[in-house]
This record gives sequence, C-alpha cells and structure tokens, in this order.
Amino acid sequence: MATSTALLLDVDTGIDDALALLYAAASPDAELVAVTCVGGNVDARQVAENTLAVLELAGRGDVPVYLGSEMPLRKPLTTSPETHGPRGLGYAELPAPVAALADGDAADRIIELARARAGELTLVTLGPLTNLAIALEREPSLPALLRGWLLMGGVYRGAGNTTPTSEWNIHVDPDAAKQAFAAWGRSPQPRSPEALPPVHPGVARPLAMGLEVTERARIRPEDLRHLAVRAGAQPLDADPAGREPIRAVGSVEANPVLHFVVDALRFYFEFHAKYDGFYGAFIHDPFVVAAALDPSLVRAEPVFVDVEAGANLAHGMTVADWRHSTGKPPNLDVAVEGDADTFLERLIDRVGGLAARRAGVAR
Ligand code: RIB
Ligand code: CA
Repeated sequence: MATSTALLLDVDTGIDDALALLYAAASPDAELVAVTCVGGNVDARQVAENTLAVLELAGRGDVPVYLGSEMPLRKPLTTSPETHGPRGLGYAELPAPVAALADGDAADRIIELARARAGELTLVTLGPLTNLAIALEREPSLPALLRGWLLMGGVYRGAGNTTPTSEWNIHVDPDAAKQAFAAWGRSPQPRSPEALPPVHPGVARPLAMGLEVTERARIRPEDLRHLAVRAGAQPLDADPAGREPIRAVGSVEANPVLHFVVDALRFYFEFHAKYDGFYGAFIHDPFVVAAALDPSLVRAEPVFVDVEAGANLAHGMTVADWRHSTGKPPNLDVAVEGDADTFLERLIDRVGGLAARRAGVAR
C-alpha cells in the first residue's frame, strides 16, 4: 500500500470540486479525513448538500462534512451559476444525501483536526479562503500544525478568469487570501518536532496552483469515452453522437458515477465552449488533489505573493514578486509547470475504477 496522505479538503462544490472529491475517494494513497464547505460557486449550504451527495455517490458517506463561512470576510458573496449551474452540479441530479452535516463550524474543526494530528494533515483548499482565514485568526500557529497546504487559486503570470487580473477563488474573498498568504509569510514556520517531512521536502511554504498550470488540465468528450471503458461501460454510451452535446445513455446512464460525471460536465462543457472556445472543461480542483498526493506532478518556484483587496482595477489580483523588488522573503511556492497528461490518465483510471466498483462491475 502506497504511503497514504491524510487530506483535509475545503471546497465550494461546484463541478470540478465534485471531480476532486471523486478523485480523493478513488485514490488508495489518500486518507480523506474531513471536508469543510465554503460559499463560492454556490452558497455554502448548497455546497454542503452537494458535497454530502457526491461523497455518498462515491461510497464515502462516512467522511465528516462541516459547514463553514456563508459569507466572505468583508465582501458580499458572489456565486457563479453561469459556470456550475444554479445548484452547482451542472445538469446532474443526485439523490438527497442521507448523512447530515457533522456538528461544528468548519474553522473550528480545521483547528481541532490539525491539533489532534499535528504535522500530519495536508489541507487542500479548492474554493475561496474564508474558512482558512477565520481558522488562522483563531489559531495563528495553524501553519506549524499542518503538514502542508495546497491551494487552487490565483494567477501568477497570466490572465485572470474572473477579471483580467484575478482568479475566481481569490476574487470571491481577496481579504481572506491576503490574510492567509501573510500568515505563512510572517516567519519560516517552525515545524512541530513530530511533524512528518513537508509534502514538498525542504519547504514549509504552501503550494499554490494557479490558472497557468490548472488550465493545462482539460477534459474532453474523448476522455469520457476512455472513462466509460475503464468503468466497464460502452464508450459510445458516453458520447453517442460523437459530437456535441455529450449524453449518458445505455451502460453509462446505468452507471451512477459515470451518469453523474457526464451530466455535470455537459453543463461545464457548454460554459467552456461559450467562454473559452473549446468543448471540454478545465478541471482545476482535482489536479490540485492529485498534486497533494503526488508532488512530482508539479514544479514550483518560491516567490513572495500579496493580494490586492482594494476596490480598483487590480481587485483580487495575486501579485507575485518574481523579480524580488519588494525584498520580502517568499511566502508561497507557486506551480510553474504541471504534468496534466499524467494527471488526466490517473483521473480516468481512478474515477473509472471507482465507477466500476460502485456499479458492481469487476475491473
Ligand atoms: O478558478 C477556478 C476555481 O474557481 C475552481 O476552484 C472552481 O471550482 C471555482 O471555484
Ligand atoms: Ca472550487
């Protein structure tokens, strides 16, 4: 058994967050300790319902799910129904979850879990950073209690996806991001003596995966055909017309995980066709979970990053000091390269295998 990585996921379950949850549930090298929910793609309570339902779809209704902040620290909440659908899972419909939310507030539970398993938990944030910022206010030594923190967020050299200079997770709550990045930059984090080596050996800095790397992870209709085969279904049942729109029929429709993935992605593909010029989707969030489990998937460089939280043209911008003009020490490791091909192969293999198991198909 590969060494397992103890994961604490913070999500704003939308479509790619859902794929990240499926990837984590399907990964033998992941110990899915808990999931915390934050408002973002949809409101926090819808995020929580989506998260519970997706975990039950994956057979992981045992994983505790905590409700977190329903509002950013200062801004009003902005959601993205045009991207993920009014309920956050595109065209997919899942049964109402059986499990209830676990008791307790997300920020408190992040702190309690980090204290209980000092140096062991890898926090992976896939939405706005409100829960983390609140946890840091309550427990400033949180960075030293965690084994590592990986985030999907920001854009460090390229164009934003929400404004020309900002990425969605940061734009929703730039105040939270500013606080979280500063917390890791105050001083090199002392590691608790019993802490395991950092996820990325030699650095205690968070690993930030921004759009320039996560947008290399693109899933397309032909990938859904491979997913169907891996799950023991008929490939053309995931894409019967071989053209837009994708549709789950026959053996794919009969497979609950495959049916969900195809119906969720059909909405996401339509969004990307309209705004990004290709019938497919950037799958940002599962790429970050994959990197948390296998750091070799990305290459990162240390850099000082601050966040513009003011009301101006650069609002929500992650400002990376690549030329060291601030003189401030690096507080993040920013991914500059990522092996999206290997990640996609692994996603198809792992989620396809989960789909087969959940459908009772020996694979
Ligand atoms: O910018 C992409 C990020 O925003 C992803 O986490 C996606 O789920 C949305 O939250
Ligand atoms: Ca997300």
